[in-house]
Amino acid sequence: MTTYLSVNHVSKKINGYTVLDDITFSLDAGKIYGFNGINGSGKTMLLRAILALIKTTGSITLKQQPVTLNQPFPVKVGALLEHPSVISEFSAVKNLQLIAHLQTNTTQKDIEDALLLVGLDPSDRRKVKKYSLGMKQKLGLAQAFLGNNEPLVLDEPTNALDANSIARLKTTLKKVSSQRHNHFTNMP
Ligand SMILES: Nc1ncnc2c1ncn2[C@@H]1O[C@H](COP(=O)(O)OP(=O)(O)OP(=O)(O)O)[C@@H](O)[C@H]1O
Ligand SMILES: [Mg+2]
Repeated sequence: MTTYLSVNHVSKKINGYTVLDDITFSLDAGKIYGFNGINGSGKTMLLRAILALIKTTGSITLKQQPVTLNQPFPVKVGALLEHPSVISEFSAVKNLQLIAHLQTNTTQKDIEDALLLVGLDPSDRRKVKKYSLGMKQKLGLAQAFLGNNEPLVLDEPTNALDANSIARLKTTLKKVSSQRHNHFTNMP
């Protein structure tokens, strides 16, 4: 097995309070991993560190390349951290079009496929502010899936999803993982 992600002696203190305490582990390519821990134990903070969104001590590498705050990220990543970031005045399609503009080779069909993948209707023209909580969560997941990036980093991806949608998400993650993705999720 090839090591895909390596986290070495990573610590994070905020205002003198230790939120990540000397964390070391490595994850292999081509698998789905979940982080399990009580509220406040640092799962979201660890995912932020892996995404180079916060400064930590220690080191993190993805595909043997350093992950560092304010440096180019070594891979193209799909991510959903805590609440989905959506523009509530726009439709789901328009929200995804904004992200597609930042990517190369993402087509309108890819946008529609990402919505269908999470169980949203691409022909729904309503503004996202009219969406239910679970529908907004699905849009956040569609944002992460768009572009077929790896790895997928998903923080509590099942939040607000009904039982059928959770089952569907698990099937989807297994399917895309067997195709090419690496996932680090915070999912029960
Ligand atoms: N902006 C911040 N400033 C100071 N402390 C913070 C900040 N964000 C989080 N923390 C602290 O860092 C610790 C880890 O928080 P984190 O959000 O990573 O927990 P979590 O494991 O994701 O919890 P949950 O299961 O509730 O999502 C907590 O003690 C929290 O109080
Ligand atoms: Mg959290």
